[in-house]
Amino acid sequence: MAVEQNNPFGRKDPRIITVKPPVPPAAPADGGGPGKAAAPAAPPLLEVEGLCTWFPVKKGIFARTVGYVKAVNGVSFAMQAGETLGVVGESGCGKSTLSRTILRLEKPHAGKVRFGGRDVFALRGKDLQQYRRDMQVVFQDPHATLNPRHSVLEILTEGMLVHGLIKPKDTQEVAAELLRDVGLQPDAMHRYPHAFSGGQRQRICIARALALRPKMIICDEAVSALDLSIRAQVLNLLMELKDKYHLAYLFITHDIGVVEHIADNIIVMFKGEIVERGPAEQVLLHPQEPYTQRLIAAVPRVGGAAVGA
Ligand SMILES: Nc1ncnc2c1ncn2[C@@H]1O[C@H](COP(=O)(O)OP(=O)(O)O)[C@@H](O)[C@H]1O
Ligand SMILES: [Mg+2]
Repeated sequence: MAVEQNNPFGRKDPRIITVKPPVPPAAPADGGGPGKAAAPAAPPLLEVEGLCTWFPVKKGIFARTVGYVKAVNGVSFAMQAGETLGVVGESGCGKSTLSRTILRLEKPHAGKVRFGGRDVFALRGKDLQQYRRDMQVVFQDPHATLNPRHSVLEILTEGMLVHGLIKPKDTQEVAAELLRDVGLQPDAMHRYPHAFSGGQRQRICIARALALRPKMIICDEAVSALDLSIRAQVLNLLMELKDKYHLAYLFITHDIGVVEHIADNIIVMFKGEIVERGPAEQVLLHPQEPYTQRLIAAVPRVGGAAVGA
């Protein structure tokens, strides 16, 4: 990623769709009476502006860059604290690259990511540490992200110890509380990841993310590998935790049916770009783009009932 490359379209990328920004889920409850100017909306928790993350395609013995896979190409959106934003699109459309860029695991070619108004790529030292706490992630495959040699107690408390949030003598008490939060028995802390089912392991990953008291959790296909009944339970759990801890979720999934019950707003990605966005109800019930319509039509329905029927 050391190759210097400018987005040929610059900031004025004509492919950036500039439809109305998503509506915040709830109006500020300040009781603004008639005649009173509307209170200014809260500043967004996360702002992504013109983000381009491209991967070089190299050819020949000199590994010359002959082109780019434009995994994320001119993506802009904003989300509020406590909001759930669904990001949907087929495999390969750039969803994970988007999340990895927000997490600072990929370097963008162009564009900005701001968290709480601050440029994420300019964060250093303590500010970066704070960002790493505020922004957590839960991936699809808990098996791959949980160290099989660590007990659940170690998995849950490692981050808090590193960040100096707890003392070693308090680890058991804190882990028990976290396990209760995600619907597991406190004695699970003495077991190892292999001793749990897929759904339980995903609950452990959620508990680990919660441990650092984040403001936002990126769920990248977090329920995609779970069977349907377990998936519903984990989605319900996520919604309970969101209310309890006022969390924002960037909820990434290839299956638009998954965000149906949880997203406030939805963006639809296709080949690295946003092709449709809006409040969840609007996107699900009145999709404007044929691509979104196809994604919705692909959701299996018991008895063939249509969306909203
Ligand atoms: N590290 C990488 N190097 C090269 N290409 C990549 C890399 N990561 C992702 N890609 C490509 O970027 C595109 C988007 O991938 P990804 O973000 O994983 O999509 P999704 O999560 O929506 O399935 C794909 O074409 C993928 O092959
Ligand atoms: Mg992905």
